[in-house]
Amino acid sequence: MATSTTPNRGKWNSKLGFILAAAGSAVGLGNIWRFPTVMAENGGAAFLFIYALLVFIIGYPVMVAELSMGRRAEKNPVGTFKSLSSNKIFTLAGFWCVICGIAILSFYIIVAGWTISYFFEQIFHYLGFEGAAAFVADTDNGWLNAIVAVIFMAATISINIAGISQGIERAVRLLMPMLVVIILILIVYVMFQPGAGEGLREYLVPDFSAINTDLILAAMGQAFFSLSLGMGALITYGSYLSKRENIPEAAAYVTVFDVGIAFLAGMLVMPTIYMAQAQGLVVFDEDGSLLAGAALIFQVLPELFHEMGGLVGLIFGATFFFLLSIAALTSSISLLEVPTSYVIDEHKVSRKKAAIVVGSVVTFISLFIAFDTSLIGPIDQIFSDIGLPLGGFLVCIFLAYFWKTQNAKLEVRQGFENIDDHWFWPVWVVFIKYICPILIALILGSTIYGIFR
Ligand code: TRP
Repeated sequence: MATSTTPNRGKWNSKLGFILAAAGSAVGLGNIWRFPTVMAENGGAAFLFIYALLVFIIGYPVMVAELSMGRRAEKNPVGTFKSLSSNKIFTLAGFWCVICGIAILSFYIIVAGWTISYFFEQIFHYLGFEGAAAFVADTDNGWLNAIVAVIFMAATISINIAGISQGIERAVRLLMPMLVVIILILIVYVMFQPGAGEGLREYLVPDFSAINTDLILAAMGQAFFSLSLGMGALITYGSYLSKRENIPEAAAYVTVFDVGIAFLAGMLVMPTIYMAQAQGLVVFDEDGSLLAGAALIFQVLPELFHEMGGLVGLIFGATFFFLLSIAALTSSISLLEVPTSYVIDEHKVSRKKAAIVVGSVVTFISLFIAFDTSLIGPIDQIFSDIGLPLGGFLVCIFLAYFWKTQNAKLEVRQGFENIDDHWFWPVWVVFIKYICPILIALILGSTIYGIFR
């Protein structure tokens, strides 16, 4: 994962290095694929509003909690829960993290595989090979899904084995700004297309009557997913974090950066959906639900690039899907890192063996999804919308009532010397002890109540 400066455990190379790696983990398909899709299904701007709210009142405090637990314990999630308290029940919370990581990664690599397929779709389309373009564009082709997912997993495993934090850092430093620039240019372009105005209105003018328990649950799940919270990815990343870093500050950078990119992606995708619809693509069925489901952005965004046409369309299209696959890669390595570091730490296996074994198990599961992509929706909902908030809830309860906030303070003080005079600490304690767990429990509780009613 990170380069080794101590015999036991790697460390990120610099302050920026950690922020880049954590931002790389946060920014991925969650921002550009999941966020717009879930939003289009859940009432547009009202969803955006609740999502943004939950990011700051639940996501950010939980991120600080995960990072401080991980840095204190210097272990994977299972080891962290085990070592910070004598209560062994919470070891189960660690296992829950590992299970969520495996489940989420198993569909994540399928969608990431589509970014590879569509990179080639753009090229074939430009060259006039329409047959080949249509072949790679078929997200229902099980064999194709399997092949690109395996390629993507192989890339993820090799990075986890090489432990090249420098590679991640460099990729994020260089390619993330490129992704932002390309999205900005595309936003300007799409604004001039017919239908875009309606999409923009849908995105920015909230209809608060659309808010219901489904929307709130989806917004909470999206907040956890996008920030990489609730399954110990940031416990693990925190375990590589140097004691000199200011955790609340680093977490604030990562949160703002991630939300910023999601917001921009929405500005691009929502208008593009309505543009594609104005061009005759059927996006919603009569009762307003999405037809494309998980494949939504892979149907509408290529329309935009084809609309640009010629070499310009190719350059934007191919670059966009290339950058998106890199963004997905810097995220998938954090998903794989959780089960891998668990196997390394707790079963004393070499990193290479651990990454290959875990990666193969995940790939095996993902093959079922490759041949039936309608599984993505339910797996995603169970593990992202319910599993991650449940993990976040356990983190709050564990930190507040088992590890204790005084101990967390000793950890966070390192790198944040004036913590005793700062308003941050007492406010954060109230969030972690009361506001976050109660809110999560209420939202999860009302959903479960709704299911069994
Ligand atoms: N946050 C990433 C994205 O937006 C996905 C991801 C990486 C993730 N690590 C995670 C999601 C841990 C949940 C938990 O694409």
